[in-house]
Amino acid sequence: MAGTPHLQIKDLSVAIEDKQILKGLNLEIKGGEVHAIMGPNGTGKSTLASAIMGHPKYEVTGGSITLNGEDVLEMEVDERARKGLFLAMQYPSEISGVTNADFLRSALNARQEEGKEISLIKFIRQMEKQMEILEMDQSFSHRYVNEGFSGGEKKRNEILQMMMLKPSIAILDEIDSGLDIDALKIVARGVNELRGSEMGVLMITHYQRLLNYIKPDFVHVMMQGRIVKSGGPELALKLEEKGYDWIKEELGIKDETVGAEA
Ligand SMILES: Nc1ncnc2c1ncn2[C@@H]1O[C@H](COP(=O)(O)OP(=O)(O)OP(=O)(O)O)[C@@H](O)[C@H]1O
Ligand SMILES: [Mg+2]
Repeated sequence: MAGTPHLQIKDLSVAIEDKQILKGLNLEIKGGEVHAIMGPNGTGKSTLASAIMGHPKYEVTGGSITLNGEDVLEMEVDERARKGLFLAMQYPSEISGVTNADFLRSALNARQEEGKEISLIKFIRQMEKQMEILEMDQSFSHRYVNEGFSGGEKKRNEILQMMMLKPSIAILDEIDSGLDIDALKIVARGVNELRGSEMGVLMITHYQRLLNYIKPDFVHVMMQGRIVKSGGPELALKLEEKGYDWIKEELGIKDETVGAEA
């Protein structure tokens, strides 16, 4: 992909079934940067991820999203993926009847020009290499996508997809939930490996612990459907120690969830 990736979100508002969830969110991510988004439950973090990827349930009611200057909101979902956007979901879906290998190969080939599809041998070699890095048993390539996978195996599988697709912007929604300590380190290794390759990362997490392994450049706090505070890694440490009440007090927010307006 030409140039450093650049995702720009300006004044984004998003509604679900007439309920306004995001209300004027601003965020800019450049290649190589890692942004962590933290914030209490129900403040719109996953909604932001879904809106960027173009989930049909989420209606953008205002603002803009551009990737390298191109209007993301004008793009179909598959086009967003082809342009280099990737989401590791908080709750990964199972796809019965489609093996992991077939799924990955189709996803990879969908990004190639006609006639330039990756050869089967090359694909298998790449997949095996990445699975080794992620310490995944090779048998996972022949299993249906996420079907019967444990919680941690699903998360690892999301990272396998990311490592194969090499997105320009990766959104990781609670990639640490359900992972044991060893798996957390392995997943972090995968992310850090791609980070050097100019990939920009948006990491949604509740826990500072993940940030010990994937060091963020910026930490943002979301409340009421917008980013209310941004800082460096030290902000996550302060949240770990003090929780969110001090931010609410500072900003005069009584209820941080999206339904409740100050
Ligand atoms: N499809 C939907 N239908 C109805 N309400 C929704 C839908 N998706 C999200 N919401 C509501 O929007 C609000 C924000 O949800 P979201 O999943 O973005 O929160 P979150 O910050 O990711 O929370 P968590 O930390 O618990 O994952 C919640 O009140 C949620 O119930
Ligand atoms: Mg969420």
